[in-house]
Amino acid sequence: MKTDTQALRDQIVGEFLQAGDQPVSGTRLSERTGVTRTAIWKHIRQLEELGFTFDSAPKIGHRLMHTPDVLMEPLLPNVFEHTGLGHPVIFSPEVDSTNRLASELASQGAPHGTLVAAQEQTSGRGRRGRVWFSHPGGAWFSLILKRQFALSRAFELTLLASVALRRVISELTNLDVRIKWPNDLFVNNRKVCGILAEIRSDGEQVQQAVVGIGINCNIPMDAFPEEVLQVATSLLAESGQVVNRTQLVARFLAVYGEMLEFLFRGEPAFERVHEEWCAHSHTLGREVRVQTNREVVEGRAIELDKDGTLVVQTQTGAKIYIHSGEVLF
Ligand code: BTN
Repeated sequence: MKTDTQALRDQIVGEFLQAGDQPVSGTRLSERTGVTRTAIWKHIRQLEELGFTFDSAPKIGHRLMHTPDVLMEPLLPNVFEHTGLGHPVIFSPEVDSTNRLASELASQGAPHGTLVAAQEQTSGRGRRGRVWFSHPGGAWFSLILKRQFALSRAFELTLLASVALRRVISELTNLDVRIKWPNDLFVNNRKVCGILAEIRSDGEQVQQAVVGIGINCNIPMDAFPEEVLQVATSLLAESGQVVNRTQLVARFLAVYGEMLEFLFRGEPAFERVHEEWCAHSHTLGREVRVQTNREVVEGRAIELDKDGTLVVQTQTGAKIYIHSGEVLF
């Protein structure tokens, strides 16, 4: 599923990582990969554009001096064996939307667990047809899932992802990360992460899902356009620290993979982390306006059921049970 260029690039990075602080000659790379030294040279230039630095000397070769924090397969800690998630990793420096590409690759036969990631998206997709701002520095990725489970539980895909991401981000940054129903992550009342799951079902069964995740990791505030700036923030801005994206994504895959196993086995999955969701909710106890498919419901969010349904009590005291929708600002 990787293009030949992506596979070659990943192989070259693997050779450098294996060599550690030893130089690797162009001839050796050419022998190992079966392409010309000119092709190797071109790849090294492209790796430099991604932030790799090399100390290159004639007749000796290239010594890898710095490895950037990029979501490329050879740089991601391998969690695949435990979770079945995160292999292969299809990384592109720039793509329109990782969700769009992941859906295309999934229909062309990409296996369960494939991770599609990009440094930058030119038309990132948000919920309800919105555009998702995807500047370099963020973690923009989509996960292809091909295990079947009941369509009635599809909502859990995003709820579980929000709990897993919240846990991992707060562990790595020490920030107080909150979940806004159903699945946005907020820090200090501003959005840092969004999730967009797109599913394909056949009758009552989900056949395939693409879970797209956007995390504003290392984005300086002045990079946000005006309209996004009003509602969003980044982990860098809130914690004052650069977040290691490969570590974050690998840890997320481990935690999410474990949660998903219950869903795939047909056992209650969200129920197991329901308390954790509630303990870190940005929504419960607040006055909310919720846009559903049919109407806008206003009232106090009083409870989240174990199946992820939000219970809103209106001014008249009536309880409205909302299965899907969006809490408006
Ligand atoms: C939202 O509106 O909150 C959901 C945003 C989801 C954005 C991510 S970024 C990676 C993946 N690719 C996309 O095109 N969208 C999702």
